[in-house]
Amino acid sequence: MKNLKKKLIIATGIFVLILVVGISLTAGWRPFLGPRARPLINRNFLRTPQREARGRYLVEAVSGCMDCHSPHDWTRHDAPILPGREGSGQEMSAMLQDLPGHIVAPNLTPDPETGAGRWSDDALARAIREGIGHDGRALFPLMPYQHFRQLPDEDVASIVVYLRSLPPVRNPLPQTEIAFPVKYLIRDVPQPLTQPVAETDLSDPVKRGKFLVNAAACEDCHTPQSQGRPLPGRDFSGGFALDGPWGHVVSANLTPDPSGIPYYSEEQFVKTLRTGYIGARPLRQIMPWSTFRNMKDEDLKAIYAYLKTLPPVRHRVDNTEPPTYCPVDKNWHGGGNLN
Ligand code: HEC
Ligand code: HEC
Repeated sequence: MKNLKKKLIIATGIFVLILVVGISLTAGWRPFLGPRARPLINRNFLRTPQREARGRYLVEAVSGCMDCHSPHDWTRHDAPILPGREGSGQEMSAMLQDLPGHIVAPNLTPDPETGAGRWSDDALARAIREGIGHDGRALFPLMPYQHFRQLPDEDVASIVVYLRSLPPVRNPLPQTEIAFPVKYLIRDVPQPLTQPVAETDLSDPVKRGKFLVNAAACEDCHTPQSQGRPLPGRDFSGGFALDGPWGHVVSANLTPDPSGIPYYSEEQFVKTLRTGYIGARPLRQIMPWSTFRNMKDEDLKAIYAYLKTLPPVRHRVDNTEPPTYCPVDKNWHGGGNLN
């Protein structure tokens, strides 16, 4: 009897040890511990006209906040925001297929009950750059906080100042419910910022283009993924599938490879992002050209200059051809059988 008890204790000990080592080596402890987060601080960003203007530019022309945080009329080529609903949030999973669970982009307008009216300035700044919601939750990384963490302090202050200037819209929405096990795994994604983020050197077009491409999260849509993670070595090479009211479409290869977009001139590139047309072909609405068209000419040109410097990646993606299976990104798209 005594012997059996001893054996059981040893067996349990080994089991626990295997579990501890296993978790440490695989998912890590973060899913059980909750996300890394810094405590909120008491600060208010001074509302200045300069900040409001800079914030408006980033929100309405570059970072696509309103593409996700507002409902759209998808029947029109430029998918306009429903009148009077700017920034009032939307259920992303009702629009975009294949999301793990019920993902809601919240109401960012200053409405006190259903919007951001009662969230502090620092709570907003922390959510935008560090991925922690006002309620302390790890945000689903469809919200591009991993890119936004590079936004300088002054830019994030400007974004918050601009959001506070939006007309409040009452729009009660359900809570995000991320499916198991993704709900736990994403707790590893948020990273607190403990240092100030200084202004970026935007003096030459390539540097400015790099900054804008990051702030617009072009990479998130234009890099193929497997199980929510970008395929290594295939940055900006397209083939990420987006299904919704605009139909089935995959993103384009933006690298300078012959299979990418070497056919653009600077002028054509600016025209495509301004009009949403490549020659006579309309771009599907999920490519946020109707936001990017609000960028200054010099900024669109800077993006073009930066894309030219990307490492070329061979990957045929052609939305004008009938879909065939692509062994690289495991999606169906034009040119897929040539990869
Ligand atoms: C690609 C879509 C997308 C874009 C672009 C986007 N967001 Fe989000 N955002 C989301 C989603 C989805 C959530 C909710 C995630 C969750 O509930 O886990 C979210 C959450 C947030 C939150 C957290 C609110 C809270 O609960 O505390 C804030 C603040 C926010 N976004 C602001 C912004 C701002 C500002 C921008 C532009 C600079 C922006 N978002 C761009 C999709 C997006
Ligand atoms: C929300 C996802 C999404 C984001 C963000 C996004 N794109 Fe796209 N983009 C797409 C999709 C999907 C297509 C293909 C649309 C089609 O063929 O109808 C596309 C197509 C394009 C094209 C046309 C390529 C061709 O076929 O000639 C260009 C150029 C482009 N994107 C540039 C950009 C740049 C630059 C950014 C960032 C500033 C960006 N995209 C951000 C989804 C996105």
